[in-house]
Parts: sequence; C-alpha cells; structure tokens
Amino acid sequence: MNKVVYNFSAGPSVLPKQATREAADAIINYAGTGIGILEMSHRSKPIESMVAETDSLLRELMQIPDNYDIVFLGGGASLQFCMVPMNILDSSASADYTDTGVWASKALKEAKQFGTVNVVSSSKQDVYSHIPKTFEQTPGATYLHITSNNTIYGTQWKKFPKANTYLVADMSSDILSRKFDISDFGLIYAGAQKNMSCAGVTVAIIRKDILGKVNRTIPTMLNYKTHIEEKSMFNTPPVFPIFVMNRTLSWLKQIGGVDAMEALNNKKSGLLYEAIDSSKLFRGPAAVEDRSAMNVTFVLNKEAVAADKVEALEKEFLASCKENGLEQLKGHRSVGGFRASIYNAMPIEGVEALVKELQAFEKKVLG
Ligand SMILES: Cc1ncc(COP(=O)(O)O)c(C=O)c1O
Repeated sequence: MNKVVYNFSAGPSVLPKQATREAADAIINYAGTGIGILEMSHRSKPIESMVAETDSLLRELMQIPDNYDIVFLGGGASLQFCMVPMNILDSSASADYTDTGVWASKALKEAKQFGTVNVVSSSKQDVYSHIPKTFEQTPGATYLHITSNNTIYGTQWKKFPKANTYLVADMSSDILSRKFDISDFGLIYAGAQKNMSCAGVTVAIIRKDILGKVNRTIPTMLNYKTHIEEKSMFNTPPVFPIFVMNRTLSWLKQIGGVDAMEALNNKKSGLLYEAIDSSKLFRGPAAVEDRSAMNVTFVLNKEAVAADKVEALEKEFLASCKENGLEQLKGHRSVGGFRASIYNAMPIEGVEALVKELQAFEKKVLG
C-alpha cells in the first residue's frame, strides 16, 4: 500500500504528478514514435518541435514579448552567476548587486571577476532575515541584480525595485509563481529544479538589446548569442529536463496559468503563516513583510522551549512529520529549525496536512 507522501524539499522538489507520469511514459516510448526520449537525437523532428513548443509555452505563461530571447542551458543557475557578467558587464563598467542571501552573494562574487561590483545593500549581519529595500543605485551602473526569492531564508522581494537601467534577476526559486511586468528586466535566469522541471536545465530570458556591448572575447559555449542563434541546439541540450519542463508548463497552463497559480500560492503560504503566527511553540524568523510564498521557514520558539530541549524536540518533530508522510522539512543549517518549500506543484492538501501536524505537535509539547 502506498501512503500519501508530501515532499517539502527545497530543490530538486515536488513536480506535478501529471508531468512526472507523462515523463515516465516518454522514457519508454516518446509520442508514439516507439523510441524512448532518452534515446532520441536532439536534432530529430519530434524533439526540435518539443523544444520550440517549450519556448512558446514559457512565453505565453510569462507574457514574454518578442524582444526577448529564451535559451535552455546546462550548468545550473550557478553558471549564470559568471555567464551574466561575462556577457553584459564590461570590464570598465560597474553593476549594482543586492546581497539578500548566500545565492545573491555567490552571484556578486563571480561578477567581481568581470567588472566593478557595487554591493548596494546587504542583510548579511541579520542572517538575511529581511530584504533591505531602500538603497542608492550607482550612477552609470550597467544593471541592478536581485535574487527574487531567497530559498534558504524564506524571504522574497514582494515588489521589485525600479532599476535606473534594467534589472537582472535570479528567479530560480519563484519563477512562474506570480505575475510581474517583464519589461523592467534585461535578463532573468532560473535553474529549473524548483518550479519548472527536474535538475539539468537552466532558463535564461534575455532582452535582445543588452547583448553585444562588452569588449571582451566570450568563449563560444558561454556566449548567449551562440545559444540564441542556434535555438539552444548549438550542442546537445538537456532534452529530458526540457521535456519535463514542457509537461510542467502544460500543466500550469491547464490549471489557469500564473494568475491562478499566484492565488493558490498565496492561499497555501497564508495557511501556513497563519498557523505559525497563532502558535506558541513555533515562530517564523523571516521579516513578516518579506515572507516568501515559496519557502516557509520556522523555528521553535525559544520562549516556549528550554534551550537544552530544542535539539531533541526538533528531531522529534521531524520524525513525527516523516511518520505522517511529511518529508524534507529540515531547515538549512544557516537558519536552523524547519523549512517547508511549497512550490507551485505542492498541493494545498500537503500544506493542510502540515498545519495539522504543527498543531498536533504543539498540543503534545505544550498541552
Ligand atoms: C535562488 C537560487 N539561486 C541559485 C541556486 C543554485 O542553483 P543551481 O544548483 O542550479 O546552480 C539555487 C539553488 O538552490 C537557488 O535557490
């Protein structure tokens, strides 16, 4: 008998059941061809049209206009930390970076190899528990970089800052979770393994006019133009992760697109934050106005639990969650406690089950 399991992993993470079933079928026999998708040439007609369709689905769902190109790349979001400045930050120029977490600080560290980096704001001294929203932009900076959702700390830019020039964003952990106006952005990149697909593909969405302005020689494979000109087929692209993305986007379209998704995400995160706020045993470390709708962090309330009991109680809570089919809730080591990643594909039933678990555990501990 299969018990129901809800996977709260921060990434790779839960995918829509429908998409994983279609992906499983495609491994054996892709679209009635008699050949499994893992065994097919990326230059075959069915795969070329699948990749083109994935581009159109993403365009439609995110309302990406024609003056942007989309590329499907390998190397993870981490490769984009250097690929972005290599392609758009000239060595004589500067870029503004906001430091809202470990991923943001990794991005700015890489950028320093290509030009001048101005760290215009940082919440590092507060363990990144909030997003500093007032800061000065540097006159003449090429772009302003943000990490739209900070996966580890459970914080999220609720309203994007207005860049003097254009925004560059790492949207790895909240792409397709809410609507926004893409025209403020010059470049968006996102590893797929949270809201779009399995690990192995990274999406970059690039406004056409920002390329071709740096004076350095860019290695062919690291040049966005290479992949744009070859429609992500310069070399063998990660076909299977692109297919899982195709199926995930198709599912998202079926359930009503990003608008419907955003409403559901607000409902799911609202339920969980309400449970945390009304609890005496748990509390949320992230600043209320910056709370993420994707990664909900919570810890044991030190006012309710003696310091020497915290570790044992944390273990007990995680064990009880596991027993009840609620998996992968341990918080990142830099924040501690717990983290429930409730990406697009997490059904509301999973959140409701977690709320029940929080309440039952509190009753057991505090009476
Ligand atoms: C916001 C953010 N950026 C970047 C990364 C790194 O992604 P990758 O492992 O695809 O390089 C992660 C991974 O969790 C992330 O959450």
